[in-house]
Amino acid sequence: MPLLRSPSARRQLRAAAAAAASWPRPWRRCRASLGAGSPSQRLISTPIFYVNGPPHIGHLYSALLADAMHRHRQLLGQAGGRFATGTDEHGLKIQTTAAAAGTSPERFCDRVSAKFRELFTQAGISYTDFIRTTEPQHKRAVEHFWTTLRDRGWLYRAYYEGWYCTAEESFLATSQVTERPDALGRRHVVSLESGHQVHWTKEENYMFKLSEFREPLLRWLQERKLAITPKPFYQQVLQWLEQDLPDLSVSRDRARLWWGIPVPGDPTQTIYVWVDALVNYLTIMGYPEGHRAWWPAACHVVGKDILKFHAIYWPALLMAAGLEPPEQILVHSHWTVQGQKMSKSLGNVVDPWACFRRYSVDGFRYFLLRQGVPERDGDYYDEKAVKLINSELADALGGLLNRCTSPSLNPSSTYPGFSEACFPRDSGGSGKASVEDYELVSSVGALPQQVSSHFECFQIYKALEAIVNCVRQTNGFVQRHRPWKLSREDPEQQLWLDTILHVALECLRVYGTLLQPVIPAMADKLLTRLGVRSPAERSLSNVDFLSRYHGKKSPFEGRTLGPDAGLLFPKLKKAKDGS
Ligand code: ME8
Ligand code: MG
Repeated sequence: MPLLRSPSARRQLRAAAAAAASWPRPWRRCRASLGAGSPSQRLISTPIFYVNGPPHIGHLYSALLADAMHRHRQLLGQAGGRFATGTDEHGLKIQTTAAAAGTSPERFCDRVSAKFRELFTQAGISYTDFIRTTEPQHKRAVEHFWTTLRDRGWLYRAYYEGWYCTAEESFLATSQVTERPDALGRRHVVSLESGHQVHWTKEENYMFKLSEFREPLLRWLQERKLAITPKPFYQQVLQWLEQDLPDLSVSRDRARLWWGIPVPGDPTQTIYVWVDALVNYLTIMGYPEGHRAWWPAACHVVGKDILKFHAIYWPALLMAAGLEPPEQILVHSHWTVQGQKMSKSLGNVVDPWACFRRYSVDGFRYFLLRQGVPERDGDYYDEKAVKLINSELADALGGLLNRCTSPSLNPSSTYPGFSEACFPRDSGGSGKASVEDYELVSSVGALPQQVSSHFECFQIYKALEAIVNCVRQTNGFVQRHRPWKLSREDPEQQLWLDTILHVALECLRVYGTLLQPVIPAMADKLLTRLGVRSPAERSLSNVDFLSRYHGKKSPFEGRTLGPDAGLLFPKLKKAKDGS
């Protein structure tokens, strides 16, 4: 057990810090965008969620963002990437909640962890790994990580005293707390940020020499401007780093906190739950043996509430253990409900299962991803969700599909032919297409690239906005040419009628392909209806929009459409009480 308070130990510490300052900065080779290593060997993660209560729509939102990112990468042909989620099961909060529920923490964790897994399965979260911090391989990884920190001289024992917030499992500085009366007028000290009560703790702990990492962290961020995305969160971390960065207490007295991993070689102490939790990202990669093929090609999706843990503590811990910081931290804001923060005490925590029953899984996935702006808190209420889903999924997209596949317009139920004479490449020629039609073709042609760049920048809502704008443009195209007024008896009119339908179905094929990461079941239904069945035909690299217009063959022309499975999305009814 290293007692690093002796002068020689302090010298050792200073030497280690100096060595860290002159490291070759291996993260330099990671490119700015998502691009280290081979594209397949990449990890996307969600936070691992505390099991002190059932999952709510905030947890679902993090998982959806990561799922959409992962699915989009796969669509780009980057198969083989990993997508991890899971549950964070140790710590004082779980110990106390399980005791209050009159059950053992083991039984409690099993029950709630299963709820998260069940939710994610139902929501179509395509995770490849689900980790629980109570699993033996995780304990082994944490012990190895701890021992590495200790052997490298980054830990010492000291008397720690300060405020501890159990709800956040976090130590807070005096500047981060305030005194507030409760409903009965009793005064409590609470966390300024979360409002949760804090307690003064004073005990001998192991400390991590976090203060030594201010400079290395600043250098990392100066060189990796996109490491924390979107920008305001990057700025926030820089601001934090401009302030004092005190050492971090990384263990607790085992007599108080026994629900956790014991400090190797010192059974009187339990490893701090956040060190335990963060190491999950390495456990997934097979640490301490298999992680080298993957690390640091990791992209962590996190809520803004846990930014400090991921953007300061985690990279510092990694550097201390001789590993690189993660490639990217993608940060999102919070959902409020009718303008209020979700909380158990207010009784307004939104149950995701109830939302699936109300809007369908894909309807609710669409709402959260279309309305959620990473930089800003988003507000959820029923009327808003119904309005958005009805107008964009039922009316705009569903309506377009319905119109263009209706038996009256397309009696043979085949993918109609395209006529170059009606829609020549030269817009000044003799065809029937208007200036707006050429604009539509160019918008939809540019859409896949535009959507991909929005995804890369973690702006999924912008990708969806771009898609829905094109859907509206396509509806305008159909409306403008009124194919229902054209006669199949007249050969010239028939050619034009088929061309209109061909262009509209080609647009729908692009939308269906691009929407797969966000609304997988609906996109499947749409593509099946269009007769686009194989995974290769559904991949982004083969999307090849309107190939006939570009003088190439189309594999779809003349193909029988898929069976009519009814409306793509039946319109939702408004709530009776208007809530
Ligand atoms: O912090 N809106 O777990 P946690 C959007 N175990 N997202 C929300 C949200 C809201 N209102 N509320 C929660 C922990 N989230 C740790 C993480 S990681 C190594 C350990 C999401 O159960 C958001 O992603 O408190 C937030 O960061 C996370 O849930 C916190 O979940
Ligand atoms: Mg929390």
